[in-house]
Amino acid sequence: MRQRLDDIKAEALQAINAADSGKDLEQIKIRVLGRKGILTKILKSIGTLPPEERPAIGQLANRYKKEIEAAARAREKLILSSSTGTHIEGLDPTLPGRPLPMGTLHPITQIMDEVCSIFERMGFTVAKGPEVELDFYNFEALNIPADHPARDMQDTFYIDHKVLLRTHTSPIQIRTMEQQQPPVRIIAPGKVYRCDSDVTHTPMFHQVEGLLVNRDVSFADLKGILTTFVHQIFDAETAVRFRPSFFPFTEPSAEIDIQCVICRGSGCRICSQTGWLEVLGAGMVHPEVFRHVGYDTEEFTGLAFGLGIERITMLRYGIDDIRLFYDNDLRFLEQF
Ligand code: FA5
Repeated sequence: MRQRLDDIKAEALQAINAADSGKDLEQIKIRVLGRKGILTKILKSIGTLPPEERPAIGQLANRYKKEIEAAARAREKLILSSSTGTHIEGLDPTLPGRPLPMGTLHPITQIMDEVCSIFERMGFTVAKGPEVELDFYNFEALNIPADHPARDMQDTFYIDHKVLLRTHTSPIQIRTMEQQQPPVRIIAPGKVYRCDSDVTHTPMFHQVEGLLVNRDVSFADLKGILTTFVHQIFDAETAVRFRPSFFPFTEPSAEIDIQCVICRGSGCRICSQTGWLEVLGAGMVHPEVFRHVGYDTEEFTGLAFGLGIERITMLRYGIDDIRLFYDNDLRFLEQF
């Protein structure tokens, strides 16, 4: 029996060392150690041996079994790590790996980051506020009376008569001023919501609000900051125009137009033949707003502005339908 075991072991080790694929190894293991394997059969028949032989033969058979198993594991490792790997069926490590597709930032995120970093370089810090907002912050404290058209159910998504989805980022002005005394120098980026949808309007879009409050802040500061911004986000050649306008929370108010980036001012479809495109709303903070937050209107003045990120992105890349940003068509998004 001893001789038989020695033969089985020698033959198994030799076969294992000659194996050059996982499949070969598997077959050897089945033949020797499988349920009906030659070594397994011997182990099962130990009970039939004369009692005095059983312990020694049993121990020997178990030792050989372990040695054969260890040899098979070592050979398997060797095959797997062999540099060519040609021995492992179905695996060719010389083939190039399958590349994972690289993601890109959404164009709105890219422009949002760029806009914020321009203002951060001018000393503004980022402030945040809730998208589900109280009527008080979105309208009342901003001097927007109850009968103002902006409160119309067609423009504003109301949750109940006091709670709504913010229609602009201006409520963050109020929340910030409630929390701190001047000087204030913040920008507030974020999502806003209006019941509005066509080629230049979406129900959800992004704004960046700016607020600067201190002693002696003037309209000249507003002009300087916004002209610098336009020159950085477009280019230094882009002409800027301040046009009188109206917002309930600023007085005086202005809308800021840039020379059309498509036709360079000569008139085209995008600028409705005017040569100008509106990019920002702005003005000097209305004293009524300061009163709502308890600021001294004699001591402090402030400037505020708000811009739509989708608008700026459309102009930067010459895109004429805002809805493309939210269709999630990768063929479109991958271009940025
Ligand atoms: C405002 O929302 C003011 N809060 C801006 C402001 C802030 C003025 C501080 C003065 C001081 P307006 O409603 O014009 O203003 O919106 C600002 C910008 O948001 C617009 O110029 C436009 O670019 C963008 N916008 C407005 N509605 C939509 C919409 N439905 N989809 C995409 N962009 C929009």
